[in-house]
Amino acid sequence: MSSTESLEPALHELDQLQAQAAQAFESATTADAVEVARIEYLGQKQGRLKAAQERLKTLEPAVKRAYGQRFNGVKQALEIAFDAARSRVERRTTAAGGIDVTLPGVAPRLGHRHPLTQTADELIDIFGRFGFAVARGPEVEDVRHNFDALNIPPVHPARDPLDNFYLSEGTMLRSQTSTIQIRVMESQPPPVRVIAMGRVYRPDTVDATHSFMFHQVEGLMVDKGVTMADLKTVLRLFARSYLGEDVQIRFRPSFFPFTEPSVEVDMLWHGGDRWVEMGGAGMVDPNVFKAVGYEPEQVTGFAFGLGIERLCMRRHGIDDIRLLYQNDVRFLDQF
Ligand code: DAH
Repeated sequence: MSSTESLEPALHELDQLQAQAAQAFESATTADAVEVARIEYLGQKQGRLKAAQERLKTLEPAVKRAYGQRFNGVKQALEIAFDAARSRVERRTTAAGGIDVTLPGVAPRLGHRHPLTQTADELIDIFGRFGFAVARGPEVEDVRHNFDALNIPPVHPARDPLDNFYLSEGTMLRSQTSTIQIRVMESQPPPVRVIAMGRVYRPDTVDATHSFMFHQVEGLMVDKGVTMADLKTVLRLFARSYLGEDVQIRFRPSFFPFTEPSVEVDMLWHGGDRWVEMGGAGMVDPNVFKAVGYEPEQVTGFAFGLGIERLCMRRHGIDDIRLLYQNDVRFLDQF
């Protein structure tokens, strides 16, 4: 800057400085923004007001006085504007009870239902459309509901202490949801059309396909004239709804104490290269009807039990059951 500089442009710049500072302080809505404006205009080291003051020294004595006067006016205006801005944002903060309502908020992170819960809800939905109500039963069961009434005699290997979690005398963690069949039939006369689901417990060594706790869905339909064709129809309709139109279903002869005849239910669907066993099923054994006071000459029924983990894993291509229990959100987020 030359010392012969004329007065007019210098005064003009002072006016501009005042106008810009006023604008900056007025538009500042947060304490941070006021501080940024303060540093820019009133900062002791690099502030623009400071720079305007330095300029005074370079002016000719004849114009110094006029510039100095205008400078003082600008300085005063900037300090007033700063004070006004500061008290304005402070008022806003205290008005909200000490909370600075101008700060950006913290967006809540929304989660979603666990894939197993999604599967269970979808099963309830699908079977609900076929007229099946939802029944529930306790996870701590007595041996009557877990074994005796299901036609599993005292000597049966399924009752082995090494294969069950026995608790105190006569109670255990249920090893199957078939217990709920008994509870439902004990509490109501036929006809019955229910599904029941929940956790079951078996002391299996944990690996990619086994767990000491998993979930089953149980189905039971009892009425006059229910046949195995009804069983297959219901399971096929279910499989189509859950896995897709092109799913195939196959029964293999099997044995369960509570059904006669009994079958294993396999499914094969688009993209799959082999039949996958989904659970067991069959026609309710007359001894089960007798145990709950139903008349085996009057009614027939079918029952089935499917693994919920297996359904969920097949549907989503999950290859390790343990992933479902670790609750790692990086895994769960994908479903
Ligand atoms: N409860 C059997 C299990 O845990 C599964 C099962 C098989 C359930 C046949 C049924 C059935 O209702 O009819 O392996």
